[in-house]
Amino acid sequence: MADHQYPLGHVFYRKLSKRLPLITRGEGCWLVDETGKRYLDACGGAFVANLGHGLSEIGEAMAEQAQRVGYVNGTTFTHQPVEELAAEVAALSPGDLNRVYPLSSGSEAVEAALKFARQYWVETGKPAKHRIVALAPAYHGNTLLALSASGREHYKTYFREWLVDVTRVPAPYAYRCACGGRPPLCPACDGSAVEQAIITLGPETVAVFIAEPVGGSSSGATVPHPDYFRRIREICDRHEVLFVADEVLTGAGRTGTWAAIEPFGVVPDLMTLGKGLGGGYAPLSALVAPDRLVDRLAKGSGSLLHAQTYSHHPVLAAGALAAVRHLRRHGLIERCARMGGVLHREVQALRGLPHVGDIRGRGLLAGVEFVADFETRAPFARSAAFAERLTAAALDEGLVLWPNVGQADGTNGDLVMIAPPFVITDDEIGELIRRFTRALEQTTKVTKAVEAV
Ligand SMILES: Cc1ncc(COP(=O)(O)O)c(C=O)c1O
Repeated sequence: MADHQYPLGHVFYRKLSKRLPLITRGEGCWLVDETGKRYLDACGGAFVANLGHGLSEIGEAMAEQAQRVGYVNGTTFTHQPVEELAAEVAALSPGDLNRVYPLSSGSEAVEAALKFARQYWVETGKPAKHRIVALAPAYHGNTLLALSASGREHYKTYFREWLVDVTRVPAPYAYRCACGGRPPLCPACDGSAVEQAIITLGPETVAVFIAEPVGGSSSGATVPHPDYFRRIREICDRHEVLFVADEVLTGAGRTGTWAAIEPFGVVPDLMTLGKGLGGGYAPLSALVAPDRLVDRLAKGSGSLLHAQTYSHHPVLAAGALAAVRHLRRHGLIERCARMGGVLHREVQALRGLPHVGDIRGRGLLAGVEFVADFETRAPFARSAAFAERLTAAALDEGLVLWPNVGQADGTNGDLVMIAPPFVITDDEIGELIRRFTRALEQTTKVTKAVEAV
């Protein structure tokens, strides 16, 4: 068995200071490494493996398409998988969101959505509309425009000079806002902070507001007040600002509905999908837009100015098509909603354990936020690396969790995300909680309260 760690071998690993287990196979919610150790994948890798590991039918659909034709360029040809995938996604997506532009990563879909908004306003005769308004904390991707829109400061450390100016508004993050999510709501939670930002900038300069309908890892599955997005919809309509729902993490069923925006009862102008859309088998993302907006480009410049060689890719489209059909055929979104109920009930067992400040989320998406002081909600100092140490302890226990840091004040703050495949069983949820508890006990044993900020 070889060691898999920089500088051995030739892989430029994502983590240059860690030894990485080599995974040889997966099955349902489980991953197995070369030593035979089994890991319960409680975060679907990175909110991706929604259908579970080891399904053969997605790969078979991709192989069949690759044998038929592997690649054609989207400027010259179309093909059956992309036609059928677009029809499936359009049928599942809320309101008039009916036109699907497939890309590969979530960052690309966000770039495309923001560029679309800008191009739309220029082609509508309102070229002054160029500003982007976004929340903090928030995450929208790692390419430079998507990173600019992201309220995750430590990702920007070396690149600030290259980023564009994005106006940042406090996210409706009830655990750390003035109102605690309860009426009377504070400006962050009732949406008025967004309107204030638009008015201050001058609505005639604002092109787009982008938000995650349910917070992703950067705010730990925070669910906004039920009225939040209705208010956002009104504000965006009033000021002629396009509203982008970034559903890269939450879409494709993760919160128990196809899109997390649905229970809020509003339809965004643009939606991005990614991650779970291909179930982890096909790296396919998408911008979803309505004809009422796309028509403007159709009658004007004739295309979205976001050319990428691998957009509309036949093999990826075949994979995502098979993934979406698998999701529908097996009722996995309904299952996600049902098992989400079980997860949120069982995860309450963690409340009362040392340093567990808050637990929240919807469907099979849960965030557990840790604090040094339960009463004041003071986070640990970043140097304590609590989330990283907990995640490492969990891996030792054979449990894969997703950490995030910095949400409390841009630097400090520790949370972990739970987002298992939708096929998780009651017993596996029980196992998840047991392993989580053991890992937390290990971590808190060596974390001293003096490490509070
Ligand atoms: C809400 C959201 N948008 C965009 C992205 C970027 O997606 P990708 O990492 O596939 O580029 C992510 C990734 O975590 C995300 O959570």
